[in-house]
Amino acid sequence: MKRQLEIDIADLVMCLSSTVDLAYPSLNNHHTQVAYISLEIGEQLGYNNGALAELLIAASLHDIGAFSMEEKLESLKFDFINPDHHTEVGYNLIKLYEPFSDIADIIRGHHTYWNYGEGYVYRGFKVPFFSHIIHLADRVSVLIDRDREILGQVDSIVSIIDKNKGRLFVPGLVEIFKDIASKEYFWFNLVSQNLSDIIDEFIQPHVYLFHMDDLVQLSKLFSAIIDFRSSFTATHSAGVAQCAENIALYMRMDEDDRKGIKAAGYLHDLGKLAIPSEILEKNGRLTSHEYNIMKTHVYYTYVALNTVNGLEEINRWSSYHHERLDGSGYPFHLNAKQLPLGSRIVAVSDIFVALIEERPYKERLSKRQVINIMEGMVKNGGIDGEIMSILKWNYGYIYDKTAIAQTKAKELYEKIKESLS
Ligand SMILES: [Fe+2]
Ligand SMILES: [Fe+2]
Ligand SMILES: [Fe+2]
Repeated sequence: MKRQLEIDIADLVMCLSSTVDLAYPSLNNHHTQVAYISLEIGEQLGYNNGALAELLIAASLHDIGAFSMEEKLESLKFDFINPDHHTEVGYNLIKLYEPFSDIADIIRGHHTYWNYGEGYVYRGFKVPFFSHIIHLADRVSVLIDRDREILGQVDSIVSIIDKNKGRLFVPGLVEIFKDIASKEYFWFNLVSQNLSDIIDEFIQPHVYLFHMDDLVQLSKLFSAIIDFRSSFTATHSAGVAQCAENIALYMRMDEDDRKGIKAAGYLHDLGKLAIPSEILEKNGRLTSHEYNIMKTHVYYTYVALNTVNGLEEINRWSSYHHERLDGSGYPFHLNAKQLPLGSRIVAVSDIFVALIEERPYKERLSKRQVINIMEGMVKNGGIDGEIMSILKWNYGYIYDKTAIAQTKAKELYEKIKESLS
């Protein structure tokens, strides 16, 4: 793998938010819509491409706190009581990735009322102007009824926004919005199935040279968003990333490849964002219907990462983790010839971490039990024997490293939860 990857950071963020939007079809691609409205307003304000990219990233992630932890869909009603919960969770999650500290501030303020000018600060922190743009865009999005023809709704949406000028929204932004809202194309775009492509054409690619370390850090942020949806999974991806990195080390992969493997471990269950939480949180065995839905997660990991140029190899390592060497895995039924080493490592790590994890409905397995089960899978032609023997002969070390990573993830999960009470 190359030392640096050229990646459009907006693409990378949108691959996360569009996966989140899949979980709630009734919410009309909420993140994507809010991103689009914000961009239209930003363009009218004459922002340059860098500023638009920042606005796009913040808008695409704005409700991530609601979807990640104890999600409450309350925020998707026009008038709701307590927005502090999901804005704080979102802020605390996003700021985990240091280069996104400004984005975190924007997200924290995205429900602040303008309150006739008082809304530039909230509880002692300065509310960025972008927060107010996203607030307006967000409220427009929640007012759209997806079951009705769109142009017939424009007058009532505009009048509700206008009525709240000054109190909820910055007056100048309301005027810009009214101007945009007078053009039919805006509404047609907003309810288009291709809204992500429309956004893509709207702004120039904002390509960053990602050092492998940056990519690992950003993937780690994604993994927190993915894992924190359920206390059962709160440490899973952190464990898989750590285990996979250690196996890669024993396999003498070079440093950049090891970082790539680690990122793949963090991202492997990205598609779980598209799985309803009742299924993720289910205390017990899944029915066959639920299992069918669960199986889609790895397909969505693939689809999401596939939209990001530069991530092709990491995508293969991530989203082939339920493939098996004998072709019996899913969803592509690839075989030994088609499965690269990275994918095999992530697959073994995923199984290992799942076996050592505690769940309310299953007993903790001993080292012997874990090895027996996994060696059975090697014998049946499912997983790679060489990787398995590395895991077996270095069991204690890999186990400890993995457990430490999971403990750290658990502490973070608890800390963010606590900050809410
Ligand atoms: Fe929100
Ligand atoms: Fe929202
Ligand atoms: Fe998985």
